[in-house]
Amino acid sequence: MVVCETIADLRAARANLPAPVGFVPTMGYLHAGHMALVHRAKQENAATVVSIFVNPIQFDRAEDLARYPRDLPRDMRLLEEAGVDLVFIPSVEEMYPAGFRTVVHVREITEVLEGKHRPGHFDGVTTVVTKLLNIVQPDRAYFGQKDAQQAIVVKQLVADLNIPVEIREVATVREPDGLALSSRNVLLSPAGRAVAPTLYRALRAAQTAWQGGERDADRLRAIAREELAQEPRIEVEYVSLADLETLQELEGEVRRGLLSLAAWIDGVRLIDNVRLESIQDTT
Ligand code: PAF
Repeated sequence: MVVCETIADLRAARANLPAPVGFVPTMGYLHAGHMALVHRAKQENAATVVSIFVNPIQFDRAEDLARYPRDLPRDMRLLEEAGVDLVFIPSVEEMYPAGFRTVVHVREITEVLEGKHRPGHFDGVTTVVTKLLNIVQPDRAYFGQKDAQQAIVVKQLVADLNIPVEIREVATVREPDGLALSSRNVLLSPAGRAVAPTLYRALRAAQTAWQGGERDADRLRAIAREELAQEPRIEVEYVSLADLETLQELEGEVRRGLLSLAAWIDGVRLIDNVRLESIQDTT
């Protein structure tokens, strides 16, 4: 496994890789969700590149950046064992040298949901993803469905800016009790961890109601909220049922949509989502 810290070294090593190249951008502290992206990239490409970069400009709160978990030696071991070809671990100065002035902004779909509650977050994501795609120049890049809005925003960005890469989404990986894997789960207290599966339970309750014929958007959001209200430790930030393309809130009858939520548990912010769509819609 080749490890590069500079853009120049990465470009030189990238030039020797066989095509097609799959790319998995990460912020490290890897878990089985990241590794599912890596395994898909390996299955579908001749070479796999992974980046580990805790991108400071996508954090809307300084304390969130400061406490973001990191364990580079462990990440490196996992990537080596998985058979990754190339790892890019740039410094903040390498990615944002003095005089850096550009922001990549995707309009409208970044102004709702996560974008509404985390001002500036998506500008940070779209700027770093544009840079990483330009640097690595992969044929395919892999993003998790756990960050559903991020995947939708990245697809829009790549289409709008004609970046020659195919974006592939990979299903959310969950703990046996349903909690979506996230690097932030490690920050939960034991009591917080115990109630955290309620988030997925709430989404599933609404999804099950939808599958059973409930079609009213307000009612479906209310079903999720009622489940969340059972746990006083959970502070709900939003429960949304939005259009899968525009991310605008749905009203009235729901044929398909993205049901998502963000909630705080003991000072840790978690997000999760499920899609409401029939098998017919996904094919
Ligand atoms: O999903 C993440 O880990 C980050 O948002 C990403 C895509 C690596 C950009 O920093």
